[in-house]
Amino acid sequence: MRIENSLTRLLNIDFPMIMAPMFLVSNAGMMKAAMDNGTAGAFPSLNFRNEGELEAILDELNKHLLTVKGGTYGVNLIVQKTNPLYVKHLEICIAKKVPFFITSLGSPKEVILKAKTYGAKVFCDVTNIEHAQKCQDLGCDGFIAVGQGAGGHSGPYSLQVLVPSLMKHFPGKAVIAAGGIATGEGILSVLALGAAGVSIGTRFIACKEATVSNEYKQAIVDSGMEDIVMTDRISGTPSTVINTAYAKKIGLHQNWFERLLSNNSTTKKWFKMIVQIRGMKKLEKSIHPGNYKTLWIAGASSELIEEILPCGEIIQRMKTEVEQAKERMDVLIS
Ligand SMILES: Cc1cc2nc3c(=O)[nH]c(=O)nc-3n(C[C@H](O)[C@H](O)[C@H](O)COP(=O)(O)O)c2cc1C
Repeated sequence: MRIENSLTRLLNIDFPMIMAPMFLVSNAGMMKAAMDNGTAGAFPSLNFRNEGELEAILDELNKHLLTVKGGTYGVNLIVQKTNPLYVKHLEICIAKKVPFFITSLGSPKEVILKAKTYGAKVFCDVTNIEHAQKCQDLGCDGFIAVGQGAGGHSGPYSLQVLVPSLMKHFPGKAVIAAGGIATGEGILSVLALGAAGVSIGTRFIACKEATVSNEYKQAIVDSGMEDIVMTDRISGTPSTVINTAYAKKIGLHQNWFERLLSNNSTTKKWFKMIVQIRGMKKLEKSIHPGNYKTLWIAGASSELIEEILPCGEIIQRMKTEVEQAKERMDVLIS
């Protein structure tokens, strides 16, 4: 199936879907599967923190890009001052001519300026109009509208409100819906709202290619929406996790002293950095088999995920579901 709209044209892809960047989950195999199936794969640069790793995966993906038609890849940069690798990673990505970027948690100014030098596209994660306005003023190509129920730093608004609201405020800008989408029916529903495409994370944790433990993948299959809770223990910014025994044990909220350090103007930046480093270490331990200290990021769409499958099969199933759902709508609305 081929859908042509603003996102497929911007990224030169066959199907308006981004396999969303996921810390510790996204890998080269997943990116290649996304590209091979007519979609765009995106991964966080922070998954490749050791010397030379980011350059190596970019070389591998650029080589693969030459062999595919209708698929592409991009890099997610955490553009926050607390990310110590941001400047270095941006330089590497620009040198390797990454096709597109997704920015999160800060100002995308430098990314947009540098990406434009060779025509790369930049999409900014947004959860509200205020941040979207800043990204629009800086010249982004589109927004990833992160709505309620999304895995990671979910937004406060439902996609049914956030997507049309962004379209109303920024006519002509590509709005990509993210949060709670795991089926073709979900994709069709946001296309009906006017979204240019979807960005899907949680569904792809339970894929064969992901190098996280089988326990984590199985937990995605076994968990329902009521098992997903928000914690500020990972990065200081509330994030969704599965409410495992360990998540319950360490608690979901910072204590009064931690909140004090988080809010004080002198300690804020450094404390946030410490919380993030500690949180990253906890997440890293959690993805290994047999670790009982499980802190697993996941969104509410775990409710809809029933099998661990290869990425290609997940994508093809979603495409079929879009077609079938559209046929049902054609019959319903005549
Ligand atoms: C395990 C996991 C890790 C994530 N890591 C990142 C990340 O490093 N950077 C980022 O911008 N978003 C991250 N996200 C958010 C996704 O990019 C995306 O916005 C989200 O998964 C969409 O919602 P869904 O999970 O309901 O499909 C993560 C999400 C998950 C589930």
